[in-house]
Amino acid sequence: MTEPHATCRRTVLRGATLAGAVGLGLTACGGSGKDTAAAASPADLGAATDVPVGGSKLYRDDKVVVSQPTQGVFKAFSAVCTHAGCVVDKVENGVISCPCHGSRFNATTGAVEQGPASAPLPAVEVRVEGGKLVTGSKA
Ligand code: FES
Repeated sequence: MTEPHATCRRTVLRGATLAGAVGLGLTACGGSGKDTAAAASPADLGAATDVPVGGSKLYRDDKVVVSQPTQGVFKAFSAVCTHAGCVVDKVENGVISCPCHGSRFNATTGAVEQGPASAPLPAVEVRVEGGKLVTGSKA
């Protein structure tokens, strides 16, 4: 198995050295939406019933936000802001908020609702196993 983060990090560092713009490299890495830490390593988030129907829950330690727009349908997104990498700190009324520079994201789609972030929060695989939410790919 390859290590996409190592490749991504090298790309960022090389880009920062050559272009003097770390943000440019981070945007390129975050845009893939496939190589978040949460997606790479399965995590047990606990009871699926902790996420209300029509609502969302932030799992800050696991850096993931899970929403349940309709009964039994779960959506998960990385909680790492695509602007500069802060972990979001709040999800209220369907909006995920980043404390660092005020970006806001849709909790059901991950889309940017307010900048400065310009890229959506990457989707994370999530499923229910034995009544518990599990993120990441199966081993
Ligand atoms: S890191 Fe989230 S808004 Fe800047």
